Amino acid sequence: MDKRPIGVFDSGLGGLTVVKELMKELPAEDIVYFGDTARIPYGTRSREIVIKYSSQSVRFLLSKNVKLAVIACNTASASSFEYLKNTFDLPLVGVIQPGAQAAAEATRNGKVGVIGTSGTIRSRAYPNAIKAVNPDISVYDQPCTLFVPIVEEGWSNTEIARLTAERYLKGLKQHEIDTLVLGCTHYPLLENTISHVMGPDVRLINPAVNTALKVKEILENSGRLNQEKKQGKIEFYVSDFGQGFQTIGGRFLGTEIHAECIDIEQY
Ligand code: DGL
Repeated sequence: MDKRPIGVFDSGLGGLTVVKELMKELPAEDIVYFGDTARIPYGTRSREIVIKYSSQSVRFLLSKNVKLAVIACNTASASSFEYLKNTFDLPLVGVIQPGAQAAAEATRNGKVGVIGTSGTIRSRAYPNAIKAVNPDISVYDQPCTLFVPIVEEGWSNTEIARLTAERYLKGLKQHEIDTLVLGCTHYPLLENTISHVMGPDVRLINPAVNTALKVKEILENSGRLNQEKKQGKIEFYVSDFGQGFQTIGGRFLGTEIHAECIDIEQY
């Protein structure tokens, strides 16, 4: 048994969608969460910058003595997973492979849509990962750049969100996809809006669900699962205040969040 916490990071509050699933699957585990709120968004930045930011996040989590780190950001998983794996001596779990696996298993008509940040879509990480599971699946993708600021602003269930979703998702609807990957950890907060626009026949895939199962599998197989009979605690860190991290994040997780601000440039 390993009682050390699990580390989780994202550019902002999106990674809390992964924390929520980890809390369900692994309730006894302690979690250290880092949201890089000073430098959000990652999705519009170059690969090199995202690799630098992700490396700093992992170094910060290592300073908190984590036993495993979850890259709870599709943009960071897409551009830096291989680099981080080769650089750090720490088990790492990204969100792309688990999401791709879930989508490939869910589709019935072999037409899968993927939405994400421009960085994630540009990387082709999802089409490659989905086709690695089943090369016969057709993948249609669409960057949805405005979704992240809408979520961070707390506007997920507003008319603005709906109109934005209608515009972004129009093309995917024409392709008659039956499965849509929410390829950015912020997007599950827009699930109601996206589902309303896509209609009841399109299954939405939240990669966080399979990601949490993957974390559980790794911890179980390596004998590192925390088997104490207790409720795990979560520590939250951000690199800047000012966004609605605590209020919007707290509402989403259904718990009060008190985040500590750290200087990520030191890592
Ligand atoms: N939540 C992140 C993701 O999954 C990115 C948001 C951002 O652009 O910073 O891609």
